[in-house]
Amino acid sequence: MSSVRDDMRTLWYDDATRQLKIIDQTRLPHQRQIVVIEMLEQACDAIVHMQVRGAPLIGITAAFGVHLALKQDPDTLDSACEMLAKTRPTAVNLHWALSRLAEGLVSVPPAQRAEAALEMARTMLAEDAAACSEIGDFGLALLRDLLDAKQARGGENRLNVLTHCNAGWLATGAWGTALAPIYKAHQAGLPVHVWVDETRPRNQGASLTAWELAQSGVPHTLIVDNAGGHLMQHGQVDVCLVGSDRTTAHGDVCNKIGTYLKALAAYDNQVPFYVALPTSTIDFAIEDGLRDIPIEERATDEVSHVPGIDGAGALHRVAIAPPGTHISNFGFDVTPARLVSGLITEKGIFPATAQGLLDIKAWL
Ligand code: MRU
Repeated sequence: MSSVRDDMRTLWYDDATRQLKIIDQTRLPHQRQIVVIEMLEQACDAIVHMQVRGAPLIGITAAFGVHLALKQDPDTLDSACEMLAKTRPTAVNLHWALSRLAEGLVSVPPAQRAEAALEMARTMLAEDAAACSEIGDFGLALLRDLLDAKQARGGENRLNVLTHCNAGWLATGAWGTALAPIYKAHQAGLPVHVWVDETRPRNQGASLTAWELAQSGVPHTLIVDNAGGHLMQHGQVDVCLVGSDRTTAHGDVCNKIGTYLKALAAYDNQVPFYVALPTSTIDFAIEDGLRDIPIEERATDEVSHVPGIDGAGALHRVAIAPPGTHISNFGFDVTPARLVSGLITEKGIFPATAQGLLDIKAWL
């Protein structure tokens, strides 16, 4: 049975060529194109234009970006960190990675900084992959319990999981966060089926999650963003499982726009709503997600235009709104802790409460 293989990585350091390589996610699912990132500016562009995206991957890319900057000029630690910090505002992993590098490199002599930064970036990549695998193990136990409970109630032998956006291996060092338990469940032979939200405006569900799940043979169905509530009302969703870009010290969860509406529908229908995240996604400095998390606003043409391929396989971008329409494009929303059933981390599953977050902190 196929599942996440070792080559299912979206960013890696090629030891033979000493180059940073990424899969350009803006071309998926139509083309799998590998891009070499050689300069700090390219790393910044890749994050801004979402060739790499997803909270953990943004942080890892930034770490390699610092290495690239120091390779060019060993005296640019501060300016490189400043430039990278401005690329995307919401995912806290970016700042987590940059602070770790800045602290780790400040006492290293400039001539050795580039190599030290490379080592740190590689460590972060490996640690994230390991953390996501552990999230998968804890999440698998949860999915197993949910399936057992469903069958004890006389339900069918199939667990329906709804996910939003892409929190798979494309968004992390490996495995993914929300998708890791699904991959592990599939690998363990659990009959798991995934409802994949398309996730407008950039369609990370339709173009990335559906592609990832197909690569591993995980049964899934693509749905429009507004279908989740209907499915929950009809008992077609057993659990919601999403990722996070920033989780506060009180358990509020910021994730891709539309996550909050899924959490509301889940609450109204007594569907458990779990969030999977590595601890690098927790911002212990803030408590109130609505007040304190900066929400990214992106270009309006992401809403007015949609990319896709035609029958001959040619890529196009078409307009779907009248020219001149006033548009807003918020990238993320905040799900209050009270709507979250639990946080699946590499340290275990914790309640989304101030005490739950303190318990996580005690592990770090
Ligand atoms: O705008 P994106 O594609 O970077 O947003 C990604 C998400 O919202 C993910 O759910 C989140 O980063 C968790 S990824 C493991």
